[in-house]
Amino acid sequence: MQDAFGVLVLLFALFSVTFGCSNVCKTEDHFNVEDYGARSDGHIDDSKAFLEAWNAACGASTPYPKVIIPAEKTFLVNPLIFRGPCHAPRINFMISGRIVAPKSPSLWNERDASEWLGFKDVNGLIVDGFGTVDGQGNGWWDQSCRYHPQLALKFLSCNESSIGNLNLINSAQTHILVTGCNNFKVNNVYIESPGNSPNTDGIHIHSSRNVVITNSKIGCGDDCISIGDHISNIQITNVECGPGHGISIGSLGRSGNHVQVENIRVSHAFFNGTTNGARIKTWQVGRGYVRDVIFENLIFNSVKNPIIIDQNYCDIRDACKELAKSGVGISNVIYKEISGTSSTGVAINLNCSRSVPCVGISMESIELSSTKGGGKLTANCRSAHGKEIHVIPNPCLLHSTSL
Ligand SMILES: *[C@@H]1O[C@H](CO)[C@@H](O)[C@H](O)[C@H]1NC(C)=O
Ligand SMILES: *[C@@H]1O[C@H](CO)[C@@H](O)[C@H](O)[C@H]1NC(C)=O
Ligand SMILES: *[C@@H]1O[C@H](CO)[C@@H](O)[C@H](O)[C@H]1NC(C)=O
Repeated sequence: MQDAFGVLVLLFALFSVTFGCSNVCKTEDHFNVEDYGARSDGHIDDSKAFLEAWNAACGASTPYPKVIIPAEKTFLVNPLIFRGPCHAPRINFMISGRIVAPKSPSLWNERDASEWLGFKDVNGLIVDGFGTVDGQGNGWWDQSCRYHPQLALKFLSCNESSIGNLNLINSAQTHILVTGCNNFKVNNVYIESPGNSPNTDGIHIHSSRNVVITNSKIGCGDDCISIGDHISNIQITNVECGPGHGISIGSLGRSGNHVQVENIRVSHAFFNGTTNGARIKTWQVGRGYVRDVIFENLIFNSVKNPIIIDQNYCDIRDACKELAKSGVGISNVIYKEISGTSSTGVAINLNCSRSVPCVGISMESIELSSTKGGGKLTANCRSAHGKEIHVIPNPCLLHSTSL
């Protein structure tokens, strides 16, 4: 045993000398931003070093190059886009330290503030490292102007990519945006911004397919997760949300467009003190569909609107009346194994449109009670058709056989 142990130690020592990377690492598939001139003091702009390390890694011919952002250091970085496609089939952006955005919006004046850190046209990208990405968004939230275009991390046009094992805090706006991606995974991310910080979605996805979000805790000032248009096959599981506005499909169809959203499964989610729980929200002027959605194994703690469909969303009243014939069709939505408390009297609100009713709604094993012990709860359904088994409060779906 002792000998075997000795050999192991020796092997490990050899391995460390040959391949190990401490602070300075120059093996050919490790691209440490400090080797490209990053000052890592949190004040001097390290953008150039980040971009150079990225470009070197992206052009490298090793099978799995890694951009290293070392632990226990802070890096100030201005808006950057890390572009692909890269040479290798996979590339790792390993954030072990802390990346911070410039504090004041005025420092962004001459820059494109539409995103802070963007990855564009990269395949096989893995962003991880157990570090922190701090958007320092307070300066933006305080602005009277509601225009906060600066997203923290934006994944634009990608295949087979992922983000995981990271802390994302205080983004000026959405913390993670995924758009134009296929096969994207989010696992073990911790997102935190104050409950009153405007427009700080946790994760927003649109125009993407096959996205899996797992094992994450999200607290923010807007939707914990929001799902936009042109979406199929999304799985969200084992997620904790709060504070925040819940997990939301929509809003969709705002500009009268043809919505295409299908195959979404949200399971094992816990909502703590959020505005909404499971929400679907569409604009009255929209067209198209939201279909095949499952919300199951959800627990609510003091949520304002635990289960809500708002298919009548509309802000200019007269225009809405004229367009009463349109609407995004919502069909085949299953709510199953849901329990917990509502902080308002209406625990279930399926408010569908008269011109395009909700069809194929199924509710099973739902038991909601009032946050205020003994308070009475109600369910409200309007143009919502389907069936229910064991639903508390009172079932309200229309049992129409023709739909
Ligand atoms: C992702 O894959 C699709 C389908 O193969 C391809 O059309 C697209 O160009 C790929 N995206 C990138 C960024 O390479
Ligand atoms: C819910 O949120 C409240 C307020 O932030 C917190 O005190 C409480 O511990 C949370 N409950 C659970 C079960 O996480
Ligand atoms: C349902 O939607 C209509 C139209 O937007 C609105 O007037 C009504 O207040 C909503 N009902 C509930 C219970 O939310």
